[in-house]
Amino acid sequence: MAATGSAVGLGNIWKFPYIAGENGGGAFVLVYLVCILMIGIPIMIAEVLLGRRAQRNPINTMRHLAAQAGASSYWQLIGWMGVLAGLFIMMFYSVVAGWALDYVVASAQGTFSGGDKNSVGAYFSELTQSTNLQIAWHSTFTILTVAVVAAGVTKGLGNAVRFMMPVLFVLLLVLLGYSYQQGNFMAGFSFLFSFDFSKLSGQSVLTAMGHAFFTLSLGMGAIMAYGSYMPKDASIAKTVCTVAFLDTLIALVAGMAIFPLVFANGIEPSAGPGLMFVSLPIAFGNMPGGDIFGTMFFVLVGIAAWSSAISLIEPGVAWLTETFNINRLAATGSMGLIAWLGGLGCIYSSDFFNFLDKLTANFMLPIGGLLIAIFTAWVMKRSHVNKELGDISGLSFNLWYASTRVFAPLSVLTIFVYEVYSLFM
Ligand code: PHE
Repeated sequence: MAATGSAVGLGNIWKFPYIAGENGGGAFVLVYLVCILMIGIPIMIAEVLLGRRAQRNPINTMRHLAAQAGASSYWQLIGWMGVLAGLFIMMFYSVVAGWALDYVVASAQGTFSGGDKNSVGAYFSELTQSTNLQIAWHSTFTILTVAVVAAGVTKGLGNAVRFMMPVLFVLLLVLLGYSYQQGNFMAGFSFLFSFDFSKLSGQSVLTAMGHAFFTLSLGMGAIMAYGSYMPKDASIAKTVCTVAFLDTLIALVAGMAIFPLVFANGIEPSAGPGLMFVSLPIAFGNMPGGDIFGTMFFVLVGIAAWSSAISLIEPGVAWLTETFNINRLAATGSMGLIAWLGGLGCIYSSDFFNFLDKLTANFMLPIGGLLIAIFTAWVMKRSHVNKELGDISGLSFNLWYASTRVFAPLSVLTIFVYEVYSLFM
């Protein structure tokens, strides 16, 4: 449940639709799905496995397992890079989550009633131009996140997610139903699912792979930290497959709800980060009971973002408290402060925002994942790996082992090379 909470977040509802829109739709979506299946799931199993075996925070997990395997202690760099990536992501994540919080209040006040592309569009650009308002919401979100992490994440989080996920899903289905009736459903559907490979550049392939890592919270230690809290008798492979399935389902439903509205209302699919914040309020503003649905929806987006943000700073906090004798509150407070300052940077400069987004999703997470795969399948003893995955049969184990050893790392590297190549061609 906690891992689902980490995975399902702004990545699914906000980021996936807008990057699918910017990268031409169908072919991008296909590459993304293939990356989830062939790269994301195997590496996610590896990441959980490492955490559960070592039962420590990501930095100490890597140090401990490297020592156990007689390998260099440099492997702990995976943990370091993860803590840094978590902070970097939190910097822009909390700004976007802040927008969602603002939309809770706006929806409740009926701001979007009868809204159209122009009025909602104007509302969104006013919000993103108001530094004060954004700072207020971004700070609120940071404080909420710090409060839970300081109190210790594992308690309560599972229950919150158990309640929130189904409600979020139902609301997405309501939106999907509305989109089906009132939106241009065929246009939306064919945009997302007809594969036009001529629209696919090296950059799009990299973005699709990066997003597979981002949406699964993969490659930065969050999943490793949750793995370390996972009971020894729970099945890693089953848990990972469930999380990946739910995560993908929510992203696809969000996309199918959003794009028909985009086409029916004359919004550009490539409108960028505002795509969800402009298209969905139009639907809420024009459906019966829309103010209430809209308010609930943005509350749930806020909660989904919150349960993801918790896992962004948890690895760093766990490391600080386990390594130095400082209390959780101080550790969480300092992580929160650094992320908050970076968030100010993102509010004042959209270039900084985009830079952090690309740096983490397209590079830091895939490199983290690549190293995790190599460590698990080449450095660790096979018998140790086997022990954690004991519940899956010989064939599935071998399939996973082969993909973690060869296929997934090779694919990540190929995509990096293809990106570099297409930069110069
Ligand atoms: N997976 C989260 C989302 O899709 C973002 C995230 C990335 C959370 C990395 C934790 C670690 O919104």
